[in-house]
Amino acid sequence: MRQLQLVAHGKPSDVIELNTVSEPALGQEEILVSMEAAPLNPSDFLLVQGMYGIRPAFPFPMGSEGVGRVAKTGSKVDAALQGKRVLIVPTYEQGTWADQVVVPVRNIVPMSDEADPLQLSMIGINPVTAYLLLNRYVSLMPGDWIGQTAANSAMGQYVIKLARLAGVKTLNVVRREEAAERVRQFGGDRVVLQGDNLHEDIEKALDGKKLSLVLDTVGGTSVGELAKSLKTGGSIVVYAMQSGQFPAISPKDFIYRGLSFHGFWLINWIRNAPRTEIQEIYQKLGDLAADGSLSAAVEHVYPLEQFKEAFEQSLKSNRGGKILFKFGATDGTDLRNSTTKGIR
Ligand SMILES: NC(=O)c1ccc[n+]([C@@H]2O[C@H](COP(=O)([O-])OP(=O)(O)OC[C@H]3O[C@@H](n4cnc5c(N)ncnc54)[C@H](OP(=O)(O)O)[C@@H]3O)[C@@H](O)[C@H]2O)c1
Repeated sequence: MRQLQLVAHGKPSDVIELNTVSEPALGQEEILVSMEAAPLNPSDFLLVQGMYGIRPAFPFPMGSEGVGRVAKTGSKVDAALQGKRVLIVPTYEQGTWADQVVVPVRNIVPMSDEADPLQLSMIGINPVTAYLLLNRYVSLMPGDWIGQTAANSAMGQYVIKLARLAGVKTLNVVRREEAAERVRQFGGDRVVLQGDNLHEDIEKALDGKKLSLVLDTVGGTSVGELAKSLKTGGSIVVYAMQSGQFPAISPKDFIYRGLSFHGFWLINWIRNAPRTEIQEIYQKLGDLAADGSLSAAVEHVYPLEQFKEAFEQSLKSNRGGKILFKFGATDGTDLRNSTTKGIR
């Protein structure tokens, strides 16, 4: 089977190789999954650069999440799983950028046979993170407002979708006009552009309302401007720092309005939550993806052998959606004008 392996830290196209490895013997509680689709995420590239919370041993099988079909089952695994579609939970015990992958059965969640495998393949990281960010820090009621940065990201799209399902309103910050238009199309209630007058623009968009929660993936000054519009007792959750700058939030906002500040990393939840909770939440999100209520835009899919092109496109800013590996595809497929792109 073919597998993308990380052999050193560095530039992705220099340090990731497509290698053929022999199929390992299946352990009693393992399954062999034939991959259908697996996304490329910013965290994969942080890991490649040695900047992620996971320290890989080389050669390291790349790819954290995805979906596929069960091709073989170990002797202690229910044989009825054979042929079923399963989501692979991103535990970093297996690499999903591969034609086939051996997975401990505890790391899979059965998914719908009918749903779009591209959408299901992205459930493992971003939607579950969006779900936990919205549910763990403040008790949001219908009509409450939340604010977020990089709202056009896949994460931002899932936050908007899940917030809407709960009747919660979103104030969305983006850094370019084209992205603002896309966020409006995704269902964002208000959109403001990062710029010199960000605080005034946020206040104008909120029209007297206050935020209950701020979700930040950028760092720097935008999160500080959003924090000024939080209500007393509100929370800020930082889950990435894409600008490379520390979140610039005034201590006065914490002191006088009792704000709280949290950091979130999905892997801590996967490591510590009961397996039943993990299964239930993934199942719920899988059902929402299957009925079309939860999705994110996809820009392009690539076959595994075009990994260098996939990396290049994934690392570009101003993308219109995610880049994924699709297995069984013979050439790259541009989805910019397809119905797979965007929220359905
Ligand atoms: N902590 C966790 O457990 C966890 C879980 C899931 C995701 N994440 C993190 O969440 C982030 C988003 O992931 P994703 O998959 O949704 O990414 P994505 O779809 O690739 O989108 C990336 C977004 O970041 C924006 N961006 C990049 N650099 C920026 C900068 N310097 N200033 C402002 N915006 C910037 C991009 O804006 P443009 O479109 O304008 O380029 C785009 O909106 C990643 O950093 C990922 O690692 C963390």
